[in-house]
Amino acid sequence: MLFSRITGTGGYLPERVMTNAELETMVDTSDAWITARSGIKERRIAAEDEYTCDLAEKASLKAIQAAGKTCDEIDLIVVATSTPDVVFPSTACLLQERLGVIGPPAFDVQAVCAGFLFAVDVADKFIRTQSAKCALVVGAETFSRILDWSDRQTCVLFGDGAGAVILEPGDEPGILSTHLHSDGRFKDLLCVPTGVSRNYQKLQDGGAYVTMEGGEVFRWAVTAMSDIVKETLNANSMTLDQVDWLVPHQANSRIISAIGKRLGLSESKVIITVEKHGNTSAASVPLALDEGVRDSRIKPGNFVLIEGFGGGFTWGSAMIKM
Ligand code: ACO
Repeated sequence: MLFSRITGTGGYLPERVMTNAELETMVDTSDAWITARSGIKERRIAAEDEYTCDLAEKASLKAIQAAGKTCDEIDLIVVATSTPDVVFPSTACLLQERLGVIGPPAFDVQAVCAGFLFAVDVADKFIRTQSAKCALVVGAETFSRILDWSDRQTCVLFGDGAGAVILEPGDEPGILSTHLHSDGRFKDLLCVPTGVSRNYQKLQDGGAYVTMEGGEVFRWAVTAMSDIVKETLNANSMTLDQVDWLVPHQANSRIISAIGKRLGLSESKVIITVEKHGNTSAASVPLALDEGVRDSRIKPGNFVLIEGFGGGFTWGSAMIKM
């Protein structure tokens, strides 16, 4: 049987740091409130002339280098993003051109903060069916562009960034299982209610912003991300103590703590980056994974459970042997 393996990871954060102190000068908030409610101390903001594809390119080059590959070996590009450079072509096609990867399929998937899990699931299936041998999977976002910077309930929570992995085939896992879910009944609880086909005028007027029912999203995120850990463990006949690291979506440290409490998982086994990154949506999981790999907390052979939850609602996970 053929499996896909992660053979390289990469991450990139824009240079500009926005601290909670800076936000205090912009909206009626405080470092104490943001820290207590979300665990976030700072986030990165893309420069005006820096776009999602720019972040994706930098993260991708690091992942390609870490895997010891060259761009011409890549035969699939999947980019998870809700903040594409342009309506079309896809950010994956823009990235393909940057990397000089001519010919193989390149496309975006859109599942908001769970997007990277959806992208990994798709790429895993390409590898397992021998439709690809070297897949570049990216989560990249410039969420700062869709924030209402006068809305203190949302603007303090998000940041920009990109993370990437290379997937290659192997005789042993690798990715042991992937799990995806969506429930569109909750479409209004977390959304940008402006688009191309609907409310286009608002988009043209610069009124496309994230709106969120924070309390409801919080409750759903904790329940869904706890339940999918159990689903993933059951699918692999594993127990929680066999998992070396949990890499959850980095929305909020209180969500991560609540998941840990529900599952009985020590925080020492959870990779947490939200304090310095904020919520980077589809980029949050690959960025956290890359950080754990590069600082050697995540070691070859470790069992790592990655999971995400986002607007839609959408949620997903993967059990990975590194
Ligand atoms: N600074 C200061 N005060 C604020 C701020 C702010 N930035 N934002 C809201 N408040 C005020 C509110 O107006 C309210 O004031 P009131 O009591 O006078 O009405 C008070 O703080 C409490 O507001 P709540 O919304 O009840 O605060 P809560 O404890 O629920 O925390 C938060 C809000 C942080 C948004 C929380 O609900 C949450 O984390 N939700 C999850 C949302 C999330 O992470 N979304 C990311 C996208 S989804 C995902 O990625 C999983």
